[in-house]
Amino acid sequence: MTVHEFHPLKAFNTFGVEADARYFVRVTSLEELKEALELNQRLQTQTPGLEVPLFLGQGSNILFTKDYKGLVIKLDLKGIEIEFVNESEVLVSAMAGENWHEFVLFTLSKNFGGLENLSLIPGNVGTSPMQNIGAYGTEIKDVFESCTALNLQTRELEKFSLDQAQFGYRESFFKREGKGNYALVQVCFRLTTKDHNLKTDYGAITTELEVMGIKKPTIKDVSNAVIAIRQSKLPDPQKLGNAGSFFKNPTVSQSEFDTLQAKFPELPHYPTPKGQKIPAAYLIEQCGWKGKQIGNAASHATQALVLVNKTGKASGKELFDFSGLIIQSVHSTYGITLEREVNIV
Ligand code: EPU
Repeated sequence: MTVHEFHPLKAFNTFGVEADARYFVRVTSLEELKEALELNQRLQTQTPGLEVPLFLGQGSNILFTKDYKGLVIKLDLKGIEIEFVNESEVLVSAMAGENWHEFVLFTLSKNFGGLENLSLIPGNVGTSPMQNIGAYGTEIKDVFESCTALNLQTRELEKFSLDQAQFGYRESFFKREGKGNYALVQVCFRLTTKDHNLKTDYGAITTELEVMGIKKPTIKDVSNAVIAIRQSKLPDPQKLGNAGSFFKNPTVSQSEFDTLQAKFPELPHYPTPKGQKIPAAYLIEQCGWKGKQIGNAASHATQALVLVNKTGKASGKELFDFSGLIIQSVHSTYGITLEREVNIV
């Protein structure tokens, strides 16, 4: 395990912004992860004011607004295992450092159903439970069996069930109470081996399958439809730095919504148990931000919710300030405060 000092992070965040890690290591096994924690203890005594360690997957949901004055631990643990299979179901687990989309393709190649709607989401398996990744009518929680995380205090592995992971919309135990206390090392999914429960009623999927001329879709067809939709709307982080949706879609209470609707009768909305969810992309677009660029930062031309490093030269601070202008603007028009979905460092 090589310890790097003042290590550039530009290649380790999909926004492609410049930042240095005071210390940086890449770990490929549980033993190395434990070694990295011991290293951190030594560094803490040597370097006063050192931040707690930061665990990095593919850096697809993070914005570095400054250098990281601590140890960055890049989790590169690999391996996929079929733990159990019966006539209709299979439990498949993957280590944290497996690329999410490659893992989805692996499950599809085995005809395991459940992850097809989550095709092409950037990131690694290990970070998928953190914000309960979701797209096109499916969330991790729908297929999650359990996950294993290293307790950073006790250095013991702990297993978390679906209940213990406390998933919500782009939320989990690991993003709230468990924050800073665990490193996720493995995630196990419960998938189907036959009679797959296809979710094709999300508008864009229905339309895409029609365009593809498919009447009786397989899980692979649904995956291909999702890939086509994502490629048409969402920028490829390899070509244009971004971290997917920058904000969460806000939910307002029914009474707040009634007041808003009286003023804005066209407002799109979806009922949820907690009130009405409103697409943040709509609010941002209506406020005139879609495709707008200030300096090196912009809102994406085909999806207003995605902020992009338009010139490749944006700093994290510039993108953060740009997001602040959007928050102010949406608030002054609609009285709704958008919440950032991306982790700000
Ligand atoms: N819309 C606009 N302007 C736009 C884009 C969208 O007005 O520029 C409106 C449309 O009315 C559309 C609605 O917003 O019907 C919803 O748009 P879309 O289906 O593209 O989804 P989203 O709510 O913007 C969420 C997730 C995405 C996920 C898609 C598809 C969040 C924060 N984002 O976006 O997840 O791929 O649904 O299910 O919930 C991510 O988290 O990084 C991400 C990309």
